Amino acid sequence: MYNMKDKVVLITGSGRGIGFGIAQKFAEMQAKTVILDINQEIVDKAVDELKKLDLMAYGYALDVTNSDLVETVLKQINQDLGSLDVLINNAGITKDNLLMRMKESEWDAVINVNLKGTYNCTQKICRYMMKQKSGVIINIASVIGIMGNAGQANYAASKGGIIALTKSTAKELASRNIRANAIAPGFIETDMTASLSPEVVESYAKAIPLGKMGQAEDIANLCLFLASDEAKYITGQTINVDGGLIM
Ligand SMILES: NC(=O)c1ccc[n+]([C@@H]2O[C@H](COP(=O)([O-])OP(=O)(O)OC[C@H]3O[C@@H](n4cnc5c(N)ncnc54)[C@H](O)[C@@H]3O)[C@@H](O)[C@H]2O)c1
Repeated sequence: MYNMKDKVVLITGSGRGIGFGIAQKFAEMQAKTVILDINQEIVDKAVDELKKLDLMAYGYALDVTNSDLVETVLKQINQDLGSLDVLINNAGITKDNLLMRMKESEWDAVINVNLKGTYNCTQKICRYMMKQKSGVIINIASVIGIMGNAGQANYAASKGGIIALTKSTAKELASRNIRANAIAPGFIETDMTASLSPEVVESYAKAIPLGKMGQAEDIANLCLFLASDEAKYITGQTINVDGGLIM
């Protein structure tokens, strides 16, 4: 089950947090796991951390907002590892502010990394996947992209956009045996949520039927399933991993 051996799996923003958890999972499954993050230092640290766990991964610096760099790095990985089988668009940022006070720079930064970054990587990789006549794309969205959130108009728009982009990608590429799905995490314990006050965390936990925040591994487990042949008839879907927060 879940045979990922030697599949080339690229995960953006996998230097830490959910992305790192996903990388760890695929490395455990003996995939050719590729850590991608914004600079070489972050990438090297993540690869070393996996080494300490007796796991092997490859690392490349990649800022997903730079489309020329995306093209160059994908070409290099394809040359180095022989194929590009799975892309997990996970890189994401927040710059929260109430809509009324939101600066244009805060709007642009979040849309650029979360939505345009996903577009850049998807558009550049699908050429390779179309040639291969196989591929899997998994986009990390958010429950906020479905339900919205006060103070996160930019983030909600970017994640709602990712869900729509996923459906269009799935429709355009299905005939080439390429599947695209989105995962909408709820509240997952990472650096991104570490800055929340204990009161906010407690109020979120109260709203979650399973009564607690999730772990990176909860997202990684679904990535593994969606990337595998066991999910061969699933495309264009958004699957929530949120302890039941929205249903
Ligand atoms: N943590 C949560 O509760 C939660 C909930 C829903 C969705 N998500 C989504 O999951 C993803 C991962 O979140 P996380 O909590 O692990 O965040 P995180 O901040 O811990 O990690 C994000 C990673 O993305 C990298 N990154 C940022 N900008 C980049 C760029 N331009 N190019 C390449 N890499 C870049 C960062 O360096 C970092 O390693 C994000 O897309 C986030 O929106 C998280």
